[in-house]
Amino acid sequence: MQGPVAIILAAGHGKRMRSERAKVLHEVCGRSMIHYVVEAARGAGARTIIVVVGSGAEQVREALADEPEIRFATQERQLGTGDAVRACRPLVDRYEGPVLVLVGDEPLIRPEPLADLLARRESEHAACLLGTAIVPDPSGFGRILRDGAGRFLRIVEERDCSPEERAIREVNPSCYAFELPGLWDALERLDTGNAQGEYYLTDAPALLHSMGRRVIALPCLAPEDILGVNTREHLAQAHALLQARIQGRLMDQGVSIVDPRNTYIDGRAEIGRDTVIYPFSAITGRVAIGVGCRVGPFAHLRDGTILEDGAEVGAFVEVNRSRLEVGAKARHLAYLGDAHLGPSVNVGAGVITANFDGRQKHPTAVGAGALLGSGSILVAPVTVGAGAVVGAGAVVTRNHDVPAGQTVVGVPARPLPPRSG
Ligand code: UD1
Ligand code: CA
Repeated sequence: MQGPVAIILAAGHGKRMRSERAKVLHEVCGRSMIHYVVEAARGAGARTIIVVVGSGAEQVREALADEPEIRFATQERQLGTGDAVRACRPLVDRYEGPVLVLVGDEPLIRPEPLADLLARRESEHAACLLGTAIVPDPSGFGRILRDGAGRFLRIVEERDCSPEERAIREVNPSCYAFELPGLWDALERLDTGNAQGEYYLTDAPALLHSMGRRVIALPCLAPEDILGVNTREHLAQAHALLQARIQGRLMDQGVSIVDPRNTYIDGRAEIGRDTVIYPFSAITGRVAIGVGCRVGPFAHLRDGTILEDGAEVGAFVEVNRSRLEVGAKARHLAYLGDAHLGPSVNVGAGVITANFDGRQKHPTAVGAGALLGSGSILVAPVTVGAGAVVGAGAVVTRNHDVPAGQTVVGVPARPLPPRSG
């Protein structure tokens, strides 16, 4: 097994979410929480990732099916976070070395501070390097207790806090770098003498300390990185913070977002310079947008959409799995699904690609410079040639391709007869 190993705890159901689904599968900005944590662990240098599953185990495995090389440990009964880590022992086998332990319900965690944790544990020769954060409102977190000289003593869970301890603002975000096999020794000594009667991972650092091992608590995590999602309200907060982060990155890269709070952009979207996103637009899934495009207001770009440079998508236009080549425009009230529009195609108001026959999706292709008149419908599969014109209100029926340069009108669409005289 290659180290560093990351263990991500995701076996709890998350009762406070009041949901049928396992907590880590709830989505933030279009992806389930567990994905973000897996990505952060990888970004921090973890070579082997173990996800501890229990409640909703099958769904969690399924959600991570396309993530490469994840191993799953099963925690049969949710006896606490310490017990969850213990469930990994058979998988880790004889591996000795660093292990990062994280929780699956902190989707905002970033790779850089986690990489720091691993590096500091190594350089300090510590048995445990505990990342902490100092937050304005510590409620919900375990608190960090230190002695008069500022040395780490232990973590105390909120439920087990005295009133004085409750006031402590240095908290445990559940980001730990341990060393194996040392951690197993501590986990063997856990007991359930706490308010919840569980095996708490949070007792492990103090146990290691009492065993004469070096334990350091380092306030290296930013408050906005450690938002733990325990309720739907937290989920909405995580969403808002992550949106701000995604949009901030895009704006840094030269994208204009006119009204960030009324715009939704998936973290996987790529957007070129000088593109302007107008209010009330939603960009969901993997969408690629070129340079100098115009999106919205009120546009919905969905997974698999590509807008090449200078393309424009305006009000109440939905684009799904479609490509608009350079300078193509659909500025008002349209649905483009499974469509490929050549350069400078002009899509009039109210155009629809009827891509679904009730059973299957079909493609529509429109050649360079073609004009699709207002209210026209293209019943897929169908091709409209370059420079062709589809008259307003025409219905181009399936497989009745329109040749290049031809003008068609009516229902069903037929070539416009040449004018006499
Ligand atoms: C935990 C910490 C707390 C910390 C907080 C925020 C403990 C005892 N407490 O509390 O100090 O401030 O996280 O990070 O660790 N899980 C399992 N198996 C279990 C129980 C939990 O896999 O038996 C998983 C959950 O799916 C979740 C994570 O561990 O992803 C944390 O569990 P949760 O119940 O959210 O712990 P908190 O009460 O937030
Ligand atoms: Ca939590």
